[in-house]
Amino acid sequence: MIATIAAVSSNGVIGNGGGLPWHFFKDLKYFKEVTMGHAVLFGRKTFESIGKPLNGRKIIILTNDSNYRRKGIIIVNKVEILIDNYLSSKDILFVAGGESIFRRFLPVSAEAYITHIEKEFTGDRYFPLDGLLNFSPASVKEELENGVKLRFVKYINNNYDSDPLSFSSGSLGKSK
Ligand SMILES: NC(=O)c1ccc[n+]([C@@H]2O[C@H](COP(=O)([O-])OP(=O)(O)OC[C@H]3O[C@@H](n4cnc5c(N)ncnc54)[C@H](OP(=O)(O)O)[C@@H]3O)[C@@H](O)[C@H]2O)c1
Repeated sequence: MIATIAAVSSNGVIGNGGGLPWHFFKDLKYFKEVTMGHAVLFGRKTFESIGKPLNGRKIIILTNDSNYRRKGIIIVNKVEILIDNYLSSKDILFVAGGESIFRRFLPVSAEAYITHIEKEFTGDRYFPLDGLLNFSPASVKEELENGVKLRFVKYINNNYDSDPLSFSSGSLGKSK
């Protein structure tokens, strides 16, 4: 199964200047809890902003550079390989950004774990919020950190049914 996980400000921002525009400990903790033990996909730019593998998770980086190598990291050059491996698998691939990766993988995600940060931030990278129109909220948890409300919402893709291969038909599963 493919699942998206992202933190998004109230004006849709996810990043600024190559990094996160905020630091919310509770969101980092949530990310760790949800993704622990699973495969986590980053775009090459996001991975370089983090700079190292994450404990207890299989880290996969998407890049066009076929010579790219990093210790302890799986490198993938084709979106299709990930979709073929995970779309109908019991193993979960958490798609963890950045913007280019969210745009490509949200439509094929069965679930989306979105932390809605209820404050506006200045940024240069955005989450494709219109893609969430195809999802329904399944659970919501709210927390406060430094006076800012964090709303942790787990969404389920309305197009996902008991036959995940149905994603592969039509444009959803097709790569550029
Ligand atoms: N708030 C959040 O939840 C969150 C999460 C993650 C990241 N972010 C933020 O998002 C920003 C980074 O996003 P971004 O869109 O600039 O970069 P990105 O998505 O992290 O990485 C882009 C790179 O991924 C590779 N890539 C993307 N699509 C590909 C494809 N179809 N095939 C092969 N390789 C592909 C390319 O690498 P090459 O150039 O090497 O070919 C591309 O330059 C940062 O500010 C970061 O902090 C926020």
